Amino acid sequence: MSKRIEVNSLDIYYGKFKAVEDVSMVIEPRSVTAFIGPSGCGKSTFIRSLNRMHEAIRGAYVTGEVLVDGQNLYAPSTDPVDVRRQIGMVFQRPNPFPTMSIYDNVIAGYKLNARRMKKSVADEKVEKALQGANLWNEVKDRLSESGSSLSGGQQQRLCIARAIAVEPEVLLMDEPCSALDPISTLAIEDLIQELKEQYTIVIVTHNMQQAARVSDRTAFFNIAGTGKPGKLIEMDSTDVMFSTPKVQATNDYISGRFG
Ligand SMILES: Nc1ncnc2c1ncn2[C@@H]1O[C@H](COP(=O)(O)OP(=O)(O)OP(=O)(O)O)[C@@H](O)[C@H]1O
Ligand SMILES: [Mg+2]
Repeated sequence: MSKRIEVNSLDIYYGKFKAVEDVSMVIEPRSVTAFIGPSGCGKSTFIRSLNRMHEAIRGAYVTGEVLVDGQNLYAPSTDPVDVRRQIGMVFQRPNPFPTMSIYDNVIAGYKLNARRMKKSVADEKVEKALQGANLWNEVKDRLSESGSSLSGGQQQRLCIARAIAVEPEVLLMDEPCSALDPISTLAIEDLIQELKEQYTIVIVTHNMQQAARVSDRTAFFNIAGTGKPGKLIEMDSTDVMFSTPKVQATNDYISGRFG
């Protein structure tokens, strides 16, 4: 169920402003790909274009291609709602639905899709997703409590459970650990390692150690100056990127000389 993503000559706009220019890359299935680069270089913009969340912003559009197992995400016949079900997203700040119980948070994707489901089937899906997000043992006796009663790290794992409950093929994570303490961060990193056996995972991170620890491949984005578009500078296996990158700017960034 894990899928390969191929991006060809993608430009990403907010109205007249071109935020990201000419990105081409391949994201392999059953692997973790990290996006790194200085603030404003377009990492969030680019990751949102991989599940058609970008165009939810008024005036925002892309040119170029994103192929998921060969299928063009931006073809007129492709339904964006369907895309977002297949390609799940986890955001920087844990965003459980505050008025919903832990249980309802996990099953929310199905309810939004207006599917009717037997209680026993729903119970099974909730348990499986919470097991998958390494949260089950901590919440199994309090499933009817509010999602906001959990700690920050637990809430982020709840959001991951919510994302994987609908069985997506790809999981996109935009700085999923930046609001978390070190222990919760390690729990999420362990989880990412487990999830990559089933999913194609993309993670944006500002934390170089994290990119080095969790990812198989790393893509470095950079920006030439304010108002200029962000570009993909270099992408390679994480080992190569952190030891012998080909571009000087990559080396400067990963060794902390800027950004
Ligand atoms: N909703 C928006 N409308 C207009 N411009 C936007 C919008 N969101 C982002 N931008 C612009 O697009 C560019 C890229 O922003 P983006 O948020 O993708 O960067 P980023 O690499 O994720 O940065 P950070 O590391 O700070 O999260 C920036 O110039 C930003 O101001
Ligand atoms: Mg961002």
